[in-house]
Amino acid sequence: MAEPMTYQQAYQESIGDPEGFWMRAGRDIRWIRKPTRALDSSNPPFYQWFPDGTLNVSYNALDRHVIEGRGEQAALIYDSPVTNSKVSYSYIELLDRVAKCAGVLRVFGVERGDRVVIYMPMIPEAVITMLACARLGAIHSVVFGGFAAGEIASRIDDAKPKVVVAASAGIEPSRIVEYKPMISAALERAEHSPAALLVFQRPQAVAELGENEYDLERLMRDGSIQPAEAVEVAATDPLYVLYTSGTTGKPKGIVRACSSAVALRWSLPNLYDVGAGDVMFTASDVGWVVGHSYIVYGPLLAGATTVLYEGKPVGTPDAGAFWRIVAEHNVKALFTAPTAIRAIKKEDFDGERLAEHDISSLETLFLAGERLDPDTFEWAGRLLGVPVVDNWWQTETGWPIASSPRGLETLPLKPGSPSVAVPGYDVRALDAEGRQLPPEVEGELVIKLPLPPGTLSTVWGDDARYVDGYLSTFDGYYLTGDGGYIDEDGYIFVMGRTDDVISVAGHRLSTGSLEAVLSAHADVAECAVIGVADRLKGQLPRGLVVLKAGIPSSENPRICSELVDLVRAEIGPVAALSRIDVVAALPKTRSGKILRKTMRQIAEGTQPLVPGTIEDAGVLDALTPVLRGDPA
Ligand code: COA
Ligand code: AMP
Repeated sequence: MAEPMTYQQAYQESIGDPEGFWMRAGRDIRWIRKPTRALDSSNPPFYQWFPDGTLNVSYNALDRHVIEGRGEQAALIYDSPVTNSKVSYSYIELLDRVAKCAGVLRVFGVERGDRVVIYMPMIPEAVITMLACARLGAIHSVVFGGFAAGEIASRIDDAKPKVVVAASAGIEPSRIVEYKPMISAALERAEHSPAALLVFQRPQAVAELGENEYDLERLMRDGSIQPAEAVEVAATDPLYVLYTSGTTGKPKGIVRACSSAVALRWSLPNLYDVGAGDVMFTASDVGWVVGHSYIVYGPLLAGATTVLYEGKPVGTPDAGAFWRIVAEHNVKALFTAPTAIRAIKKEDFDGERLAEHDISSLETLFLAGERLDPDTFEWAGRLLGVPVVDNWWQTETGWPIASSPRGLETLPLKPGSPSVAVPGYDVRALDAEGRQLPPEVEGELVIKLPLPPGTLSTVWGDDARYVDGYLSTFDGYYLTGDGGYIDEDGYIFVMGRTDDVISVAGHRLSTGSLEAVLSAHADVAECAVIGVADRLKGQLPRGLVVLKAGIPSSENPRICSELVDLVRAEIGPVAALSRIDVVAALPKTRSGKILRKTMRQIAEGTQPLVPGTIEDAGVLDALTPVLRGDPA
């Protein structure tokens, strides 16, 4: 057995000898054809990992554990306070369901390389369908349940799925969200028509099915449909496409290759200290990258048990929900977003709900998705008595860029920093001219190419967008879109996005796509959306609209309320755009660029940076009381 490595040893080796480092990590994967080399750098800036390896990711997540004797162990525990149910699936049971679901998809012609769009809430069938796609070598694309018809339609048109798989409904604490009407509206709007829609019927809202629409569970129980075996695919084949917000309104399909299994499998013991038989509870959603990596693939590749939680941090039924789950299922690692911890902190500051549960199994709380503010970091650490480990990453990278690698070494934690660069990531801070900045000086955070396995291989169907959006600003570097600095000890401090992407309760949104919806309203002449700091959700969007000439101000309340409804209907309720102000004009530079950053600084009460190129300073002065929320 190899000697355990310190963080520095692992990091230096991963950067100095990526070929050797990742070939060794690849030994934990059951390959069909073993790769003879790790990195193919023959076509920069496109890099491929394990170019001649073949495998099946679903086999690695399920079959191998059954073959190796873990068949009876719990693979997935579904805990759903909103339906009052708990179901545990052993590896054998999960494998049976996945193989059956893959058999059903195959009946509809789904094969290697085909896309399947999945629109489902946090139910086992979502995980089962994802793994069933992987079993066939098909490419899944999960759409988060909080997105509405417009977002679903644009993903269907971009991914062109052979089949769409949906649930009939999602359950929010306040209401049942019927998914079927939303899917039907999206399919009506989309130009692409899939061959079939498979619906998992939930008893809370059974959907009426029309032509080419089928009941998924009924088909899975159909004895004449054979379960499907795992198909051999190339490590470079896409495992999935996950759409994320870019700076424009059009979502980008981040492509992740099957070779990502190597990175995720490596990350479980080394970053999370989670191994076979351990229980990991990732309180996120399968619609986000955190869900893909650490609810579904990561824990299952490692032979651990994953908890799938259909509920909220508070209100289902109270702020002790996470702690109940930790106690009941013996959770070792809990992973969620800072916003969830802030919600718990707000309701149970003194930890009375926590005191009702024995959380002694918990060893670490991992947080990601947005900046971890030092207050929340300290509160959670004090209350739980376990290390609170911040992770910095993105949909694009698929696994952490920066973290404190708990399985390698216990490094000191610094409030406000997600700690050090993870092995595989050569992170630098650059100035606008691409010069490397000295310690503590803030600039653009970039990663020197090649990115490690598990990161995006391209943007779906649009290599040029990958290059233009990420690789062309600084030659040889991947642009993260985050600004920040690195201190003397190599600790990274992420200060926020340098583009128009915002994070609302851990949900990544683009202000550009919100603006596209507002400007589509017949009465709107011009608009801007800015993300303003919020104590609970991290950021909240605020809309500013200029109406077309001649509309009386008595119409403003009607128009604002229509705009709020439009955003909910087009993007979805998660956008949480509830504050829209009608203003006379928007501040701009002489070249016509709207001063969104200056407006955000005023709204947040920080010192605004007003560019010298401002066209009319009077517009900004007039807007200041509105932005500050001063009484009229
Ligand atoms: N399906 C349908 N609707 C959804 C949804 C889903 N999957 N998720 C959220 N929504 C709706 C909510 O019902 C709410 O609707 P409303 O405006 O009618 O009340 C709206 O979207 C906003 O939801 P949310 O952002 O969840 O805010 P909230 O006030 O209901 O709850 C928190 C606040 C902090 C508890 C919640 O945001 C949370 O749990 N955040 C963690 C996020 C997370 O895990 N992110 C993943 C990154 S790791
Ligand atoms: P997403 O693609 O939804 O995971 O969002 C990625 C973005 O969220 C990053 O580019 C950051 O702006 C932000 N983010 C994620 N994790 C962190 C973190 N730990 N600290 C600061 N920002 C973060």
